[in-house]
Amino acid sequence: MYEQVSHALLNRILDRIKPGIAKHDLRHFYTRLGGNFYAIHSLFQQLYGHREDFETLMLRLVEVMAAQYLARDDELLALDAARENDHNWFLSQEWVGMALYADGFARDLKGVTQGVPYLQELGVNMVHVMPILECPQGASDGGYAVSNFRNVDPRVGTLADVGELSASLRRRGMLLTLDVVVNHTSDEHEWAAKARAGERKYQDYYYTFPNRDIPDMFEETLPEIFPETSPGNFTWDEAMQRWVMTVFNSYQWDLNYSNPSVFIEMLDIVLFWANRGADILRLDAVAFLWKKIGTTSQNEREAHLILQLMKDCMQVTCPGVLFIAEAIVAPVEVTKYFGEDAIVAKECEIAYNATFMALLWDAVATKNAKLLNIGVASQPLKLDRATWLNYVRCHDDIGLGFDDADIVRAGYQPYAHRRFLVDWFTGAYGDSPARGQPFGRNDKTGDARISGSLASLVGLETAIGSGDLEHIDEAVRVILLLHSMIMAYGGIPLLYYGDEIGTVNDCTYLQDEAKSRDNRWMHRPRIQWADVEKRRQHGTPQQRIFDGLRKMIGVRKTTAAFADFNNRELIDTGNDHLFVFVRTNPERFNDHVLVVGNFDANPQSLDLKDIGTRWGFDYGRLRDLYSGESPAQFKDQLVIPPYRFYWLSDQGTR
Ligand code: GLC
Repeated sequence: MYEQVSHALLNRILDRIKPGIAKHDLRHFYTRLGGNFYAIHSLFQQLYGHREDFETLMLRLVEVMAAQYLARDDELLALDAARENDHNWFLSQEWVGMALYADGFARDLKGVTQGVPYLQELGVNMVHVMPILECPQGASDGGYAVSNFRNVDPRVGTLADVGELSASLRRRGMLLTLDVVVNHTSDEHEWAAKARAGERKYQDYYYTFPNRDIPDMFEETLPEIFPETSPGNFTWDEAMQRWVMTVFNSYQWDLNYSNPSVFIEMLDIVLFWANRGADILRLDAVAFLWKKIGTTSQNEREAHLILQLMKDCMQVTCPGVLFIAEAIVAPVEVTKYFGEDAIVAKECEIAYNATFMALLWDAVATKNAKLLNIGVASQPLKLDRATWLNYVRCHDDIGLGFDDADIVRAGYQPYAHRRFLVDWFTGAYGDSPARGQPFGRNDKTGDARISGSLASLVGLETAIGSGDLEHIDEAVRVILLLHSMIMAYGGIPLLYYGDEIGTVNDCTYLQDEAKSRDNRWMHRPRIQWADVEKRRQHGTPQQRIFDGLRKMIGVRKTTAAFADFNNRELIDTGNDHLFVFVRTNPERFNDHVLVVGNFDANPQSLDLKDIGTRWGFDYGRLRDLYSGESPAQFKDQLVIPPYRFYWLSDQGTR
């Protein structure tokens, strides 16, 4: 957009830009900068317009974008251009991700590079390597307390190893996702050290206070994220003689984004990782970026403005690189992290679908899909050109962040229902075979979340322990059922390392002083490669799960209806145990896939008459794309065995 004030400012900036930058060929950079400058200027103005040094700050911002553009290598510049030409590339059904810890999966980054063929065997083509940046020796919240944003933790490797991994993935047409922890730093970060040493400039990088006046006001409305291990939101720093805001752990200092220098530094860091070859950057804890007294300091409008500004700047320097929003917040808030509009006021192209994840777990515990159907139906529509990251498990706990009104509509009482879920997954309820642990129990509010590996939460660990073949079979079916849902839902399915072979809880963390108080480590395993080998042994859980997932991934990649163009319609079946939706091929008329999941331990039936009429399905010819079979039907009724899923099509063999 052309607007005189912005354009005049841009001209002044270009006149003053560093000579070193000015002499290079910046044509593509300038066309993008021209396109986005009005938006960048307006956002920067809204956030920092009150500053006297505003124009100098804008110059610095442009210089950071330009310098990182010049540092971007040709291969990445070519990728940017290719993705500009095919801007919906990431909505394709071809992408399947896996999140893993470098050390847990394969000792270190070199090991991950060596493990790429294994991921390829499964069909994974997007690899999210969990935090690898330098962090303290002891507790570091799994690397989410970064002490140096520009270097790799020597325990997992070097910058050169990242380069090798990214090059190896690129050669194979695979994507690399890396974390950038934008909300806070470790208390061992250089900025924190300087703040401690009394440097005012760096104290302003954080929220620090000489006494409890302001912290106490904040505490009136701030929730606690880790109530058991890190209660409260402020930590007294003896050396600095000040309170510092620490919303997560006491050693994670929240960055102060009302200081423009923090924004510019973090943008530079985000661009630095884009230039190391990351295709996607996961922005951690984005809901927390702006703090305001009298609020929960989550999902504030300014947090969204910061993300819009960051996205606009990224699009100038490296438009091919995407953002994932890690915002584990209420269902109505999550979709806002895509931005207000797909082009103007855009934020992150991808967001974790925590709502769907938690709803799936509800269906597992209740053996019905009542809340799942209601919760999915009330999830706000997402933007075009944006997509979900659908997952069953990840490195974090499972939060029961459903909408209370939805719980009531499903016929439950919110407090009692959440209590039931925690009891179920921790094995405290009736005959539950689950082996999870409560996480983040807060006695003041009664809240709790759940830790535990997928296999242990669905009862595989218990069944293997007692040698109960029937229940082993059941647990394997539930694991496949859950994955069939995230593969078909619309969005990028994100598997979690170890789940592809049914890895159970790993309790070795209890022996490690730095981890023992955080039971999320029970589901951050060290992979035993002897177990991985069992995927080749017919009939083992490893083989059944691995081969099941591999097959699903293969089918997903060739099923155009599974691409994400907001082409899903939920179906009200009248049977509470079933979760049913139709996916439509956006490129071919009348090509639909009917996705059916039975969450019950008994067979269930689905009346196909209305569905057939509404969607023009020839339901006499339905075939399951996954198994290749035609499922049992009695007249108009489809029969779905216990914990079974179908991906049904009437299109004949593809
Ligand atoms: C994110 C991470 C989580 C971490 C927190 C604080 O939520 O996923 O593991 O504890 O941020 O960095």
